[in-house]
Amino acid sequence: MKQYHIHTIGCQMNVADSIRIGTALEQTGYTYTDQLDNADVVVVNTCAVRQRAEDSAAGKLSQISTIKRKNKNLVVAMTGCMVPPNEEGKTGLYKRFPVIDLLFDTLDPQRLVEILPERSEQPNSGLSIQGKIGITAYVSVIYGCNYTCSYCIVPLRRGKEMSRPISEIVEEIRGYVRRGVREVTLLGQTVDAYGHDLPNRPDLADLLQAINNIEGLWRIRFLTSHPKMMSYKMIKAVADLPKVCEYFSLPIQHGDDAILKAMKRPYTVAFYEKLAETVRQTVPNVSISTDIIVGFPGETDTQFMSTYRMLERLRFNEVHVAAYSPRPGTLSATYEDNVPPDVKRERLQAVEQLQERLALEYSQKTVGDTYEILVERLEKGRWHGRTRTNKPVFFDNPLGLEYEGFDWRGKLVDIVIDRAGAWSLTGHVAGTTPLAQQFEEVEICAPVSLITGRSIPLAVAKK
Ligand code: SAH
Ligand code: SF4
Ligand code: F3S
Repeated sequence: MKQYHIHTIGCQMNVADSIRIGTALEQTGYTYTDQLDNADVVVVNTCAVRQRAEDSAAGKLSQISTIKRKNKNLVVAMTGCMVPPNEEGKTGLYKRFPVIDLLFDTLDPQRLVEILPERSEQPNSGLSIQGKIGITAYVSVIYGCNYTCSYCIVPLRRGKEMSRPISEIVEEIRGYVRRGVREVTLLGQTVDAYGHDLPNRPDLADLLQAINNIEGLWRIRFLTSHPKMMSYKMIKAVADLPKVCEYFSLPIQHGDDAILKAMKRPYTVAFYEKLAETVRQTVPNVSISTDIIVGFPGETDTQFMSTYRMLERLRFNEVHVAAYSPRPGTLSATYEDNVPPDVKRERLQAVEQLQERLALEYSQKTVGDTYEILVERLEKGRWHGRTRTNKPVFFDNPLGLEYEGFDWRGKLVDIVIDRAGAWSLTGHVAGTTPLAQQFEEVEICAPVSLITGRSIPLAVAKK
């Protein structure tokens, strides 16, 4: 049986695309392997957002070249954001990486299917990439991006915005739920622009409402929101729909208006602050995550400090910070990349240290409190899941025979936080541990979520 392997670099969208590409290959009889060495076909799904992502693809391709020297029949394909839409661009890439047999568009895996040796009419009966989907799944709901942020290559590679119809998305999620998925993250570069290109113009709030009705699904997340597209209706939907988690990924990118303008981000810092305030006032206990670029062309010390002060003021729950990396073909690549590398690094580290301090402060406030966790997997002998606000939490099996060998995956459980680190929390199952230790004969109730009332009962212990 022929096997394929996919190596995925980049964002959650690529993770979702890889699953879709793998599924297309499986329709023609191929099975998935996570071992590159065993593969007959290997797909590298690439990212171009920063130079480092491209370097990582180049490294993988050089490893693949070594394998291909021994296995001449190996088919090597590349997709994702390094693949330019135009023919000249593709020719250049074939020249740069002679090991590549095929460059194909992410949305068109049929191109790859057509050149597969030994295709069959039967879907495979062996290993499937769907096995990689656990309790949580990513679902692309809007492709592409209509903005033109000056530093960003995404619109050049992913094209214009294209929303998928609500019914198609709901069907896809129903399929995941049948396979045990309990949380979905809806993806889009501008997820809050969802629907404007569809008949009847539904918006993200309508989509969330439709997905909220899916039985067997516990949680819904969405990323990434564009500050200019977020509406009060959407914020209210997050507050009101029980399955939608209180979490916004809302990149501000910079704390200085002049830099925002040079970045072609169409808002001011003051506008963003008002938006964040509205989100916080409307959605109790909300968590806001943001993205920051340091070292954009011309960024002065003072302008960087505006970012730093803004981060101190807004106190985000998560910050993803990157050093500016010029991308060929973008507008800002024509500006002089004049912030020296060591200054970029210093600014990056300053933001990281600030955020670590803020994250620790935020975490420490959770100690002693109870949070609803959706359990995702066993990690180094401990159960792992996340709060509704996306904070990772670890816990051990509670004492008591009834929990031995109990599979917590996909369950919502209330966890009392015992210890807090900046990036993760540790706790125990609420209502069980102390009792189990103290009175052997007490009836231990199943940990139903008292906070949200949405947990499903586990198993009630016998006397
Ligand atoms: N659509 C989202 C995110 C796109 S890319 C948005 O509008 O924010 C993810 C993140 O990578 C961006 O938020 C930005 O912080 C970072 N990024 C994009 N281009 C970059 C570049 N040329 N150099 C450094 N970071 C970049
Ligand atoms: Fe890139 Fe801007 Fe589009 Fe985000 S909104 S993908 S940063 S162009
Ligand atoms: Fe994602 Fe990288 Fe493309 S971040 S959209 S894979 S450039």
